[in-house]
Amino acid sequence: MTNHQLPLEQAAMRGLLQTVSDGHDLAPEWIKAATAAPRHSFLPDHIWIDLDGTYRALERRADISAWLAAAYADEPVVTQVNDGVEPGDPSKAWPSSSSSAPSVVFRMLEALDLRPGMRVLEIGTGTGWTSALLSHRLGDANVTTIEVDRGLADRARAALGTAGFAPEVVCGDGALGWGVRAPYDRIVSTCSVRRVPLAWIEQTKPGGVILTPWDNPWICWGLLRLTVGDDETAVGRFSADSSFMLMRTQRDDVDLLRDVVRDDHEAEVSETVLPRRSVVHAEAAFAIGHRIGDIWHAWQDNPAEGVADRLWIASADRSSWAAVDHDGGDEDVFTVRQYGLRRLWDEIEAAHQWWIANGRPGPDRFGLTVTSEGHQAWLDTPAHSWPLN
Ligand SMILES: C[S@@+](CC[C@H](N)C(=O)[O-])C[C@H]1O[C@@H](n2cnc3c(N)ncnc32)[C@H](O)[C@@H]1O
Repeated sequence: MTNHQLPLEQAAMRGLLQTVSDGHDLAPEWIKAATAAPRHSFLPDHIWIDLDGTYRALERRADISAWLAAAYADEPVVTQVNDGVEPGDPSKAWPSSSSSAPSVVFRMLEALDLRPGMRVLEIGTGTGWTSALLSHRLGDANVTTIEVDRGLADRARAALGTAGFAPEVVCGDGALGWGVRAPYDRIVSTCSVRRVPLAWIEQTKPGGVILTPWDNPWICWGLLRLTVGDDETAVGRFSADSSFMLMRTQRDDVDLLRDVVRDDHEAEVSETVLPRRSVVHAEAAFAIGHRIGDIWHAWQDNPAEGVADRLWIASADRSSWAAVDHDGGDEDVFTVRQYGLRRLWDEIEAAHQWWIANGRPGPDRFGLTVTSEGHQAWLDTPAHSWPLN
């Protein structure tokens, strides 16, 4: 392995490792790996900085100190927007690839519980930094990484080579895994999924682990760690870890106003006292997303005369919608409109009640069982389960 660090970058890397180790000792193997694979060596010259939700391009040559500060902050660095087709208007930029926040990367690596000789498949190569850390730990021959974007895969392969690593970098759809080098002891995804692909279970050895960030149309949150059984099933729990960009091949977003709501829909009108913001926030939202797996929401400011904002809700099959209005006064009663085959706000109120009745559980009390028949969500034990729609 070659090490192309200048003193400034070495000091920045030490500072970052210090931050990551604060309150949680990072294993010496990962400190060695990070020292041999400095994060900045994997970042492109052109990165994107998040300024309160809008992205600004930053060129290494134009501002080397800002670029290095981004490389060595414990924050994600966006390395591609809009699947590589940069928009003329920067306010339309959304991240499609990034180097994840280092503390998250190391938490995930530690959750893999790796031992020498294990074979790992990483889904979502991105910059190649995670696969370099894995290669340092397990040896190039034991690491395969797959990236859907050809340009990113080629760039990562080159950055890995320059840094002295040579894991197998494949360009393809990670939802299919990579059967050529299966079976694996571990599959780790660095993009989130709404469904665990069966190929991942088939390509993992019995007793092996699948670790993936989770996404639900209602909320993108949670890290799922599944253990694969002898019978091609996988069972495991969530932890309350950060949110990741969704796997490209599982994107199926609903545009509420374009795809679902029509002017001639006659909605049923009622009132609610359940604060709307509480159902889209944190633990309550995670629980609601697990109880009703197929609903979406979006906010609209000033949708009509006398309405300050509106929470729109829709079913994934586009058959039903609901809207909950705030008239701008005290937040105690809200007007509800519901249309279609389902009464979506009523379903949400029932799910919220269920969450309270069960002691307001957070992600770590939820689990998932995946078989060829489908996904079963559960609370506390697989005995308390329901199908994830
Ligand atoms: C958060 S980034 C990965 C960060 C990466 N592990 C690193 O160390 O830089 C997520 C990556 O997943 C990739 N991705 C999205 N959908 C994918 C798919 N279906 N198959 C493989 N990669 C995918 C994205 O292109 C993106 O590069």
